[in-house]
Amino acid sequence: MQTIEIKGNKTSKILIGEKLENLENYLPGKNVVIVTDENVDKLYSHKFPDFPKIVLGTGEKIKNLSTVEKIIGHLIDLGIDRNGFLVGIGGGIVCDITGFAASVFMRGIDFGFVSTTLLSQVDASVGGKNGVNFDSYKNIVGNFNQPSFVICDGNMLKTLPLKEIKCGMGEVVKHALIADKTMFEMIENNYDKALSLDDEVINELVYRSVQIKSGIVNKDEKEKGERKKLNFGHTLAHAIEKHSTVSHGEAVATGMLFASKVSNHYGFINNNDLSRIENLLNKLQLPVKTDVPVESLKEAIQKDKKKNDKNIDFVLLKNIGEAEIKKVSINEVKSWIDKFL
Ligand SMILES: NC(=O)c1ccc[n+]([C@@H]2O[C@H](COP(=O)([O-])OP(=O)(O)OC[C@H]3O[C@@H](n4cnc5c(N)ncnc54)[C@H](O)[C@@H]3O)[C@@H](O)[C@H]2O)c1
Ligand SMILES: [Zn+2]
Repeated sequence: MQTIEIKGNKTSKILIGEKLENLENYLPGKNVVIVTDENVDKLYSHKFPDFPKIVLGTGEKIKNLSTVEKIIGHLIDLGIDRNGFLVGIGGGIVCDITGFAASVFMRGIDFGFVSTTLLSQVDASVGGKNGVNFDSYKNIVGNFNQPSFVICDGNMLKTLPLKEIKCGMGEVVKHALIADKTMFEMIENNYDKALSLDDEVINELVYRSVQIKSGIVNKDEKEKGERKKLNFGHTLAHAIEKHSTVSHGEAVATGMLFASKVSNHYGFINNNDLSRIENLLNKLQLPVKTDVPVESLKEAIQKDKKKNDKNIDFVLLKNIGEAEIKKVSINEVKSWIDKFL
């Protein structure tokens, strides 16, 4: 097992290679409540420690304040007080909701995660951002608060549908592109092993992703500067997600190729690196194009911003493994959409 620490508002230990079976070792003896979703419950509840359990539905539509209310109602019924401990066992949706519910219940109780999807192990459960959606606004209600621990059990990934592995790989490639050239080369050489969840390869990719993300979060927990680099590919991705049913990791892939083309246009990455990025995304079976009409994408990017905010912090690649944040006008981004999509 490997441990990486995040020192935010509290110290958070990310435990890579730890097992669900050992979860109990990280929990207090009482006042613990488990939050999970139907799918994870069916597959793994026989391995859960013996504590009360709240089982949520699945999908982005349940990531809202009424689900938080439901959890809070259960906690009150169970007589949980300030010494309570909430443990989320699931993907990004379960972790985002659990972290938020724990943060607001009685002004905040301790919590931890068992992260069960590739996307949540490499991204969602790392970094202390918790929250839910409101109307059509994603993650608009939330807070920064670190979980005490995050268990990343590689064995649990074996039951994931291939589509979820591909989506997680989108964020893994993002980490390599913004921060680690040798990791990018490693994925180029092992993309098939990654998709088939070869133990050694996937463990290494989860470890390096968490190392990159936690390194950035340790420098800039509240996203004032450096942490914005993690938004590479996400400006377009969010616009695609607004107008389609494409999954986040897939939308990020399309957004990363777009941002790479813009980087190439500004003379940062060369043509060869641009083709390497496109080839790798293709090999990982991630989409590099979108069917969403350019006018809808432009409208979504415009609407995403606050009324008086005319600029976007757009993340460009200087090289494979090196990112730079550039403040650009929304009109400029719209012109790139016309040019590159
Ligand atoms: N907080 C952050 O910093 C952050 C970062 C990135 C993404 N997110 C959020 O994460 C969410 C997406 O997370 P996700 O991709 O993990 O989605 P998810 O939680 O919906 O999980 C995907 C699917 O896999 C199922 N599943 C989970 N674990 C499984 C397992 N081991 N075996 C079989 N099936 C399993 C789930 O039931 C679900 O159907 C989004 O809401 C996104 O906003 C948050
Ligand atoms: Zn993302």
